[in-house]
Amino acid sequence: MNKKSPLSRSGRFKGGVGEDVSRFTESISFDQRLWRHDILGSIAHATMLGSIGVLSKAEAKRIVKALESIGEDIEKGSFEWDTTLEDVHMNIESELTRREPAGAKLHAGRSRNDQVALDMRMWLRDEIVELDVEISNLQKAIVDLAIENDQVVIPGYTHLQRAQPVYISHHLLAYVEMFARDHERLLDAFSRINVCPLGSGALAGSTLALDRKQVASFLGFEDAKGRPVVTQNSMDAVSDRDFAVEFCFIASMTGVHLSRLAEDLILWSSSEFDFIQISDEYTTGSSLMPQKKNPDIAEIARGKSGRLVGNLVSLLTLLKGLPMTYNRDLQEDKERLFDSVDTIRSTIRLMAAMMSNIAVKAENCKNAASDPNLLATDLTDYLVERKVPFREAHHIVGALVALAEKIDKPLNLLSIKEMEGVSKKFKADALDVFDLKKALDKRNITGSPGTKEVKKQLRSWLKRLA
Ligand code: ARG
Repeated sequence: MNKKSPLSRSGRFKGGVGEDVSRFTESISFDQRLWRHDILGSIAHATMLGSIGVLSKAEAKRIVKALESIGEDIEKGSFEWDTTLEDVHMNIESELTRREPAGAKLHAGRSRNDQVALDMRMWLRDEIVELDVEISNLQKAIVDLAIENDQVVIPGYTHLQRAQPVYISHHLLAYVEMFARDHERLLDAFSRINVCPLGSGALAGSTLALDRKQVASFLGFEDAKGRPVVTQNSMDAVSDRDFAVEFCFIASMTGVHLSRLAEDLILWSSSEFDFIQISDEYTTGSSLMPQKKNPDIAEIARGKSGRLVGNLVSLLTLLKGLPMTYNRDLQEDKERLFDSVDTIRSTIRLMAAMMSNIAVKAENCKNAASDPNLLATDLTDYLVERKVPFREAHHIVGALVALAEKIDKPLNLLSIKEMEGVSKKFKADALDVFDLKKALDKRNITGSPGTKEVKKQLRSWLKRLA
């Protein structure tokens, strides 16, 4: 049996719980990282109780002071967490009451159910702000790499088969766009996270005249116009964790984007592609094969996405079919959420650092991009411009490619005679199509990998990320 019995058991229960039960039910080992927000929430609650007369002004002041001193001790690492006190809320409240007897009045009008919902929302808010900085750092690193190599052309692929030429910067900017949407999703989710649940009590609010708006404003739960934002249904507020699920989805989506970027880097650094070299600090060797240089960072980043998706599914499964309102199952939300926050953050940070440590092998890219077949589609456009229906043009150029293969000649080295043999529509200028530079200059429409358009996009991203 435990020395101390948790606050929630006082009165109703005879003794403490067994060691195994306490170990099974505790959350202090992981929810202690909410301490800062738990203390802030309690300070807001105490201040409000002081202003509505549940606490005297002097009591409220003393409670706030004691909470602040507990915060200092936790910060210093001198605070002793007690597993038998279950969670962060009871650890702090119990210590508060030890230091300041008026602490026993603090929990009036509050339950751990609205308290934990509050702590998690505040904690997640702060994490999102920091995560968002990491996302823009990653975007900057990608844009820098794109600018450094703005002349480099590579084959673009579909089905992992060479398709059409693109600037490597266009390929890289595709990821910048994806991460921009992840950033927007975060901002959007923020507005739903930033709603104050305190005052919902265990599930049914309170008979005390709590000033919920005061607490909300105190804690920064305000809309763009500075108006306090509070939850509108006490049962919803203590029982749903959709805000955590939403974050885990965004982390998963960002993780999946990162995994695709990682996969491209892994392919590009293989001998088969050989488009890039990742610097030694971001690769590892083999314990057996002395020649190996492995893109482990990118591989781990690719692997982390599975874990993020796992956390998302885990949270959804946790919520599925839960009866209203709070159920202790919900305690299982924290480790999944914390893990997603930590995982996505470290993955983004490492990927950003690695992007700044990549050298593009321009010569190899050039060789790959000079495959004339990449411009077969441009040859159909040549015919279309000469009024050949597209389907017919597609057929003609297909026949030309087959001929080139048959006589073992690159497409661009066919003679005009050989081309005329396939279609009279080909004139001497048809071979101009195979000028790669000109081919890229011609791609002028918005969103295409044309010379001017890509430059424009690079400039616009530089501005947006400045
Ligand atoms: N540690 C709990 C959690 O994380 C706090 C809320 C506990 N509430 C309760 N009624 N037992 O969910």
